[in-house]
Amino acid sequence: MIEKYTFGTPFPTEAVIVQIESRRETPKLLERDEDGALVYKLADKDIVYGLGEQIRGINKRGWKYVNWNYDNPHHHEDTKSLYGAHNFIIVRGEKLWGAFFDYAGRIEFDIGYTRRDLMRIDVGGDFDLYIITGQSEDDIVKQFREIIGRSYVPPKWAFGYGQSRWGYKNESDIREVADSYEAAGIPLSAIYIDIDYMDSYKDFTVDKSRFADLAALASDMLARGIHLVPIIDAGVKIEPGYDVYEEGVAGGYFCKNAEGGDFVGAVWPGRVHFPDFLNPEARTWFGSKYKALTSLGIDGFWNDMNEPAIFYTEDRLADTLKSIESLTSGNMGIDEYFKFTGMVAGLNGNEGDYSKFYHNIDGEMVNHRDVHNLYGMNMTRAASEALKKIEPDKEILFFSRSSYVGAHRYGGIWQGDNKSWWSHILQSMQQLPALNMCGFLYTGPDTGGFGCDTTEDLMIRWLQYTVFTPLLRNHSALGTREQELYRFSTVDIMREIIKIRYALIPYLYDLFVKCADNNEMMFRPLGFEFPDDADALGVEDQLLLGSELMITPVYRQNARGRYVYLPEEMMCVRMKSVTSYECEIMPRGHHYVTAELDELVFFVRSGCRISLDGQWIGYDVL
Ligand code: GLC
Repeated sequence: MIEKYTFGTPFPTEAVIVQIESRRETPKLLERDEDGALVYKLADKDIVYGLGEQIRGINKRGWKYVNWNYDNPHHHEDTKSLYGAHNFIIVRGEKLWGAFFDYAGRIEFDIGYTRRDLMRIDVGGDFDLYIITGQSEDDIVKQFREIIGRSYVPPKWAFGYGQSRWGYKNESDIREVADSYEAAGIPLSAIYIDIDYMDSYKDFTVDKSRFADLAALASDMLARGIHLVPIIDAGVKIEPGYDVYEEGVAGGYFCKNAEGGDFVGAVWPGRVHFPDFLNPEARTWFGSKYKALTSLGIDGFWNDMNEPAIFYTEDRLADTLKSIESLTSGNMGIDEYFKFTGMVAGLNGNEGDYSKFYHNIDGEMVNHRDVHNLYGMNMTRAASEALKKIEPDKEILFFSRSSYVGAHRYGGIWQGDNKSWWSHILQSMQQLPALNMCGFLYTGPDTGGFGCDTTEDLMIRWLQYTVFTPLLRNHSALGTREQELYRFSTVDIMREIIKIRYALIPYLYDLFVKCADNNEMMFRPLGFEFPDDADALGVEDQLLLGSELMITPVYRQNARGRYVYLPEEMMCVRMKSVTSYECEIMPRGHHYVTAELDELVFFVRSGCRISLDGQWIGYDVL
């Protein structure tokens, strides 16, 4: 059952696409404190699931999360905001209920942080609240997904392996990647091209001195089964004569400052304007620009920097420089020093800057601060809606960095700028079910890690996890260790994992479509299936995949195995290649399971089997 409650006059986020009659009262489950925040008394054993792309565990208890889309490449334990706002939770314990806080601005979830026994949700403005009750977590998720609409389904090729790196600077770099993968005998379905392909980081341009003929390159690659997937950034470079800039100014398609001029921020190209993606006309216009690349044979895009990321604004930069001058002109003591470093660090994504621009919503100027979390979603929406008209017969791959609930209808998301850290394998896993709850099925991390230098064993363990995620993309940052698989001495192990992935694609794709059609999750916490099993409820590092599998990735350096909890008898599959593997039935209980570097270990659930490239793995079913 879904009950809707409306507080004030909320901005229509378009997350929910079904009309539900609403009440104007506080739901019985919750109370409002003296500051108007919603509070819920947590019982000792209550678990709180959800929040989509956020840090920390599957059970969100014990931290304060701020959903305010933010370009944050440092996903530490004390991080509060990442790129997405997925304000959906499920509480399992004395009561079982779910809630969606439909609000486009800043919202805080204090889930047993200030007080262990209290959940306090502080919504920054007027909002709608949906309270969902049901038989089980799956039932609650299904009801929620029914009101937010069907998940985007990417083309099947997007389940293949993709190679990406910020720093492929020209056509010959791309050809070298394709040739080297071919020489290493590793299948490859996509090469992602980062900002390096653009002319001075201008959207929808190609630097001809480095990519002389992108159409020819795309077609050569496609003939080898490799799709080229370029990045598109949110900010449009301010440069007289640049058509996108000129058209945006002439059409009034950019976000405005308080004086009615076009708002200026700075990102990769330096000074930029931000398209007003909340304005349908601006969306149609920006979406039409993707044609510049689809006409060259491009059939996939990743939309980036769409929180939107703002490195600095000129006003703040000028003020900062002035203050720095005064801070550094005398004896810089401890207070001045901290102020100085804080001011420089505070330029990027400064919350104050997001109050300085406006969206034109049906002629009314709406402050960005109140609709901030909708920006990224509407960028992908612009592309998705336009491409349905431009290329009606083609399936196009889209994924975005920033998102809000509803963005799952237009494209996927990747999990942002992680690091080549062991802990980030676990962090990515812990986000998967929470993302699936909100309809984000096409997702995955930067395999290998984006920031920092990866290592061979870390890369193998990343692959043994992302062999199961819908998006399998090796991506890394400029200046980090190069991590194309053919560069490693353990390439033979890596090749087999990628081949296993290709053998798994029919299973993964069918499961994906079934989950999209039936509003189900691909990846679920064990507690969803075994809610009466206290041990299963506490598992944070294993996930059920579909109804058939359980994944148990290794995420510790030098580990030669790991502890696994089996809530029922299952079959352990230890795979070295598509054709070389061992199966062993293990009873319910706690086990130490060995997993050497060259062994992909996963479990088939009792009585189940899956088809791997036509061969059945798992229990015999007559
Ligand atoms: C952002 C993206 C990253 C990309 C980089 C350069 O950090 O998240 O994936 O490589 O920008 O475009």
